[in-house]
Amino acid sequence: MINKIQEFNVMRENLNYKFFINGEWRVSTSGKTITIKNPFNNEIVGNIQACTKEEVDQAIINAKQSVNCWENTPIRERAEILKKAANLMNKWSDYLGELLMNENGKPLKSAISEIKRTALIFNATAEAKSELVGTTMTGDILEGGSREKISITYRVPLGVVLCIGPFNYPFNLTGSKIAPALLTGNSVVMKPSTEGSITASHLGIILDKAGVPPGVFNIITGRGSEIGDYLISHPDINMINFTGSSKTGKHLAEVAGMIPLLLELGGKDAAIVLNDADLKKTVKSIVSGAFSYNGQRCTAVKRVLPMPDIADILIEKVVEETKKLSIGDPAENKSIGPLINSNQCDYVQELIDDAIDKGVEVKCGNKREGNILWPTVLDKVTVDMRIAWEEQFGPVVPFIRVKTIEEAIKISNDSEYGLQGMIFTNNIDLALNIAQELEVGTVQINGQSSRGPDHFPFIGTKASGMGAQGIKYSIKNMSRPKVIVMNLSEKGKLLRKCDID
Ligand code: G3H
Repeated sequence: MINKIQEFNVMRENLNYKFFINGEWRVSTSGKTITIKNPFNNEIVGNIQACTKEEVDQAIINAKQSVNCWENTPIRERAEILKKAANLMNKWSDYLGELLMNENGKPLKSAISEIKRTALIFNATAEAKSELVGTTMTGDILEGGSREKISITYRVPLGVVLCIGPFNYPFNLTGSKIAPALLTGNSVVMKPSTEGSITASHLGIILDKAGVPPGVFNIITGRGSEIGDYLISHPDINMINFTGSSKTGKHLAEVAGMIPLLLELGGKDAAIVLNDADLKKTVKSIVSGAFSYNGQRCTAVKRVLPMPDIADILIEKVVEETKKLSIGDPAENKSIGPLINSNQCDYVQELIDDAIDKGVEVKCGNKREGNILWPTVLDKVTVDMRIAWEEQFGPVVPFIRVKTIEEAIKISNDSEYGLQGMIFTNNIDLALNIAQELEVGTVQINGQSSRGPDHFPFIGTKASGMGAQGIKYSIKNMSRPKVIVMNLSEKGKLLRKCDID
């Protein structure tokens, strides 16, 4: 891919991309690189640096040394820098979108949208700066307190925030962590997922050009298996915001120690479809929710639980619409493209094969070419099948037919995950009652599970995560209250004229 943007030349030599510390693009002293290939055609997109532990140390030291200076930069100036970064993202969205498509196989239009969505988040985060205003209180509300005791509470940054992003939204889900971290005055070390590193690394140029001072934003690339534990257990990291698999998230929580964590992990979102649901709307939501970006979204529709009177027609219509999905080259915006790598294809196929062995009905799909898996609809999935519980992260939608609402709630809740749930019905009272029973962060009524809009809280329970993200929630979670208490002297009392006759 030809780079026509002069500003990006500094970060690479031919196809070798550098990492970013203290405002400089560097080649790793390891002498090793990792090759990133296009999952659709296997062409080399570029090579990223395999950073060493010493380079991790340098990134963190620089970040730590920069915190004070950045914290002292007025909030409004930090907000202006985020807005400038958003402008640059919009300006360069076509190039970055194409690069992202080459790197993770996302359809071109969606890849460009990902860049623009990140720009929106940066702008909205800048606009949300008032979340950082403080409060004052007098102590006389509680017994034992008095008006002479006054607290001044304001918000301060946590220090060095480690932002680790996933392969499926390498630009957006790292960006959505970086914007609130920077607004609140933290410095940042970003570790993108290996697949996605190249596009995400462009955040270095963008933030540098927007005016983030050297050292405040740093990028480390490399294999999580080599530097991951070193990074997450580093004593100078003050907070970690991670998006990725539940397995890695649990490991991270074990290793990181006593620092704040914000984790967005896997999901097994179930759509409960009642007999009176609007068929057209439900079919559209299921097909789009299950198959967008080939089901490689934490919020994808990963199970459908239809009630008896609607099950046959619902499955028939979902199959009809699924067969219409175009398949092939992401550059041509085909609906279904490659999964991120062949290991992931093997895993999804394993789940399909297990279900077939146990008697599932394959309604369509179950075909593979290279890294492309055809969108697959499975009917009569039973609870002894792995696909009923394991997160497929691929283009497969299992239908588990249920007889009662209670059974649907039980199957939904028996999952180790608790990201989102869906209820399709015209009976809103009933929907609200079911919603209260679901053990998830968010329940969607008559709509597919999804993260946005990005100012909504985004929460995973159980193995799906920890803490709330979303613009103002991230700002709160990436800062802490600091309290100064003034204890006024008794003399102050004498100045008050409050004698009542
Ligand atoms: O993969 C996890 C993402 O947070 C899902 O985001 O619902 O906007 O696709 P999305």
